[in-house]
Amino acid sequence: MITGKFPALRLRRSRKTDWSRRLIEENNLTPSDFILPIFLIEGKNKKQSIKSMPGVYRYSIDKLNFIIDRAIKKRIPMIALFPYISKKKKNALGTEALNENNLVCRALKEIKRKYKNEIGIMCDVALDPYTSHGHDGLLQDKYVLNDETIKVLLDQSLLQAQMGCDVLAPSDMMDGRIGEIRKHLDKHNLKMTQILSYAVKYASSFYGPFRDAVGSKNLLKGNKKNYQMDYRNINEALREVALDIKEGADMVMVKPGLPYLDVIKKVKENFKIPVMAYQVSGEYSLLENGIKNNLTDKNIILESLIAFKRAGANAIVSYYADRLDHIIK
Ligand code: PBG
Repeated sequence: MITGKFPALRLRRSRKTDWSRRLIEENNLTPSDFILPIFLIEGKNKKQSIKSMPGVYRYSIDKLNFIIDRAIKKRIPMIALFPYISKKKKNALGTEALNENNLVCRALKEIKRKYKNEIGIMCDVALDPYTSHGHDGLLQDKYVLNDETIKVLLDQSLLQAQMGCDVLAPSDMMDGRIGEIRKHLDKHNLKMTQILSYAVKYASSFYGPFRDAVGSKNLLKGNKKNYQMDYRNINEALREVALDIKEGADMVMVKPGLPYLDVIKKVKENFKIPVMAYQVSGEYSLLENGIKNNLTDKNIILESLIAFKRAGANAIVSYYADRLDHIIK
């Protein structure tokens, strides 16, 4: 029998009731913790389901108000645009990226016209939706050329910024591109356009469903290991972040998310700057499969998302961003 003073402190005391648990909670989620990715498709009146990502859709520009109105109503601060480009518009150089009437540019103009600064708009800077080989840059003998790719990314950045993009998010992993993009924007008087660098982006198999969503999956030749990071490494991640901060990044991204919480934590602890985490498509699909097959309940979504906050993420790019109140009771 337990007698006397043992144990003086019972941590279970504060766990006994719901009100008490709420009182001592250390982390929580609010709508401001999210960035909502939106897939774009050409055409009219389209809300197209995506086979690899049940519950996520591609929207034609005229249908965007449906999802953006909802995001604003829920007070999500920012959306991220990703285009599905038809095969016939892709080529080895990704020239469609520089077409001022491409899908992203038209969406940017329309969203800005309609919503002004009610919600932030973020766009990827990378060529993969536009290249016939599915790589993020210019390819030569299976190698993605660094400096040559940056030249194209500068034009893509400037174009997207001029069309109304608030936050440019280079996800290409070329060396030195943040500094070059910052200089280029400033030179063209786009001093207030922010840069969210995908500073730490690992060559990951968790991107599979996304590549299907943007139509680059079957095109991709080889892998992205000569520019995206090796998932064995963490010190290298800190070096990437240090460089991008020096070059002028306003925020940094760690990607993928859940398998890389250690990286989020280290980046936050070392640099004290806004750190975004990307709960990528493969993570989404795994969670959805678990729920759909009744292996577990919907709370795995909340549990996974809170983990990002515990690790120190400021916000999470998540395909669940606009649907959380249906999922989390
Ligand atoms: C492309 C890009 C990718 C993602 C976002 N931007 C895929 C890749 O690098 O192959 C992945 C997002 C996801 O899986 O949800 N630069």
